[in-house]
Amino acid sequence: MAKKLWGGRFSKKTDPLVEEFTKSIQYDYKLAEYDLIGSIIHVKILKKTGYLTSDEANKLSDGLDYICDTVKKKKFKFDRKCEDIHTAIQNALQKKVGDLALKLHTARSRNDQVVFATKMYCNMAIGYLKIDILRLAKTIIEVANDNAQIIIPGFTHMQHAQPVYLNDYLSAYKEMLVRDVDRLGYVSDNIKICMGAGALAGTPISAEEYKLKAEEFIKEIKMGEACNVQAVTNSLDAVSDRDFVIEIISALSILAMHLSRLAEDFIIWSTKEFDFIEIDEAFCTGSSLMPQKKNADVLELVRGYAGRLYGNLVSVLTMMKGLPLTYNRDMQLDKEPLFNSLEIVSSELKVLTGLIKTLKFNKEKIAEHLKDESLYATDLVYYLVDEGIAFKNAHTIIGKLIKYSLDNEILIKDMPENLLKKFSDKIVKKEFVKLFDPLVSVKSKKSIKR
Ligand code: ARG
Repeated sequence: MAKKLWGGRFSKKTDPLVEEFTKSIQYDYKLAEYDLIGSIIHVKILKKTGYLTSDEANKLSDGLDYICDTVKKKKFKFDRKCEDIHTAIQNALQKKVGDLALKLHTARSRNDQVVFATKMYCNMAIGYLKIDILRLAKTIIEVANDNAQIIIPGFTHMQHAQPVYLNDYLSAYKEMLVRDVDRLGYVSDNIKICMGAGALAGTPISAEEYKLKAEEFIKEIKMGEACNVQAVTNSLDAVSDRDFVIEIISALSILAMHLSRLAEDFIIWSTKEFDFIEIDEAFCTGSSLMPQKKNADVLELVRGYAGRLYGNLVSVLTMMKGLPLTYNRDMQLDKEPLFNSLEIVSSELKVLTGLIKTLKFNKEKIAEHLKDESLYATDLVYYLVDEGIAFKNAHTIIGKLIKYSLDNEILIKDMPENLLKKFSDKIVKKEFVKLFDPLVSVKSKKSIKR
């Protein structure tokens, strides 16, 4: 087993089952770059405060820079025998610079390190994710604009309701995605990066020193825009807060819910029964038994993964709810749900962007659906209202007319004028039938600011 960051008070070796059970290196290796940033800052602080000589600080910095470089080039060998990423980096540094590395942990605790690294990771991940979301939103707008003339049946309760522009339908998802970007922005703004909490009670180094050096270096590596640095105001809270993880995975759950609804709409639209859209073959899969099948598995997985996202959120919320202050090892379990949620959403955004770019809309089939007269029932009510009939009465008249049409299997359009007049003498057939037109219907809606 690899060297640990603790052990002096133990006379027995750790049971291998315990080693295996408690380690987190298999997933927290993803924090490597950010843990190294924290260590580089820490060296600067130790030098400024006299814990390290200039020479020692330079040697440690060079060693950390070297490791950081190998991590970035994906050449760093993560020692899976280590307890966690903090241990792996400490051991690698010791290999590189010798026992001088043992001074790095002066006035430092992994309880503080892990929060720093995870917060940095979250800020970076949110930055990338926002780009992916905006790319999907842009694709949706492009597809909507390319098909701007198409009108589709709109639904409530999954029943034909009123005609709407496809553009508006798709843009509804763009609106959700823009809110998702904003929401992740608030989450990111709310992450306050700080150093100096120690294990829980603070360290002998001044709060200003930590803030100054962290701010300076984070600016130097051009992460200043993405990261809010502040001094530790409560060290107990600093090491035991995981709100930021919960906030991110909750924002991601909302995003995943939006993507799932979009997926569900497209699944329905791609069925034989609807046939509104054709999903490109490159984004479909087949069946091992039924040769005719072209399935929307991508969309089904997007829908299915929403459940995984919610599970991740509930898992961290539940893990946190009973923990006394301050750090408890339970908190190590925040990382898999966090990384998993970020990774799932990131691949969903990418695959959906590709799928939507190549989507084809089946204008003829959609036009068939628009022949359903019930879609225009509300417009017929407005016609009578314009003729001076009270809305409630007009609603009843058109309701009866629709029922008559269904019961007698006759289209309203095909009814003679004298029959129509039995429902209301205000009906002039020539004017009335003009309303069975999707374009007339959507154009009559003036309340939307486009
Ligand atoms: N791997 C740990 C985590 O992610 C690091 C902190 C460990 N601290 C401790 N006191 N055992 O939470």
